[in-house]
Amino acid sequence: MAVIVLTSGTGSPGVTTTALGLALTWPRHVLLADCDRDPGQAVQAGYLRGMDHGGRGLMALAHLHREGTLLAPEIWRQTLPLIQQGEQQRRLLPGFTSAGASRLFEHVWASLGEAFEMLGDRGVDVLVDAGRISVNGLPLGLLGVADAVILCVRSSLRSLAAARIHLATLEDQLRAMPTQRPAALAIIGPGQPYSSAEISAQFGLAAWVEQSWDPKSASVLSDGIDEPRRFHDSRFMGRFRSEAKALSDRVSRARELAESVSGGAA
Ligand SMILES: Nc1ncnc2c1ncn2[C@@H]1O[C@H](COP(=O)(O)OP(=O)(O)OP(=O)(O)O)[C@@H](O)[C@H]1O
Ligand SMILES: [Mg+2]
Repeated sequence: MAVIVLTSGTGSPGVTTTALGLALTWPRHVLLADCDRDPGQAVQAGYLRGMDHGGRGLMALAHLHREGTLLAPEIWRQTLPLIQQGEQQRRLLPGFTSAGASRLFEHVWASLGEAFEMLGDRGVDVLVDAGRISVNGLPLGLLGVADAVILCVRSSLRSLAAARIHLATLEDQLRAMPTQRPAALAIIGPGQPYSSAEISAQFGLAAWVEQSWDPKSASVLSDGIDEPRRFHDSRFMGRFRSEAKALSDRVSRARELAESVSGGAA
């Protein structure tokens, strides 16, 4: 029962690839929601190699919202399968399909956030690819339901300098939230040159996800390059599997703790 928002400052550090890698290895049923306000259809055109979304996704949800339909009962119908194998359901909510469409969504984010939370009651966790933070930050409707907000960075000075600028906007938004929403880092390719420990200390944020630098394996996820044999058993995907389990456990524990505290106070 978790909503995890992944984002970046700027410069394509690997948000979509990391969110997809986690979704493909997540230990529970999972929805990967493409909420990047700068539309790119990155997962459908990349990993899913041009799969037709059949009109499903955020645009259809915006339409339903305009008609006054509740989004929670509709959301699952607006998704596509990411992969067919295994016990867990792994699905994609396609994102915006035209430039500027996210402007029409300003009044929809809160309802979408509620729909994500309600998926939790059906045993589905949600990984949100929120794209870049932008000058106005991230949609409050998403932040307001996030169990964690993960800022993706590479370990170069260029990536870190850009991330620091935009993190300030995000932290202002998180401070203004009525309930505390924890932020952490995903470090993509630590040690090039800065280590995770150095980056964490500099940002004052823990590194909850670390993914090794592996352009060839990453391009299977980001660009739909042919999967090598036993790709899902590779070290790269194994790393995602262990990071996904650790992140899922961490967020579940935090939720249980928060529920027991509020239950105890009641
Ligand atoms: N662990 C990794 N090792 C090497 N390359 C990676 C890794 N993760 C992602 N990449 C590569 O980084 C590039 C950008 O990835 P991706 O599209 O996921 O970034 P993004 O942050 O979502 O970008 P955007 O802000 O444009 O949406 C891709 O070429 C991808 O293959
Ligand atoms: Mg992306």
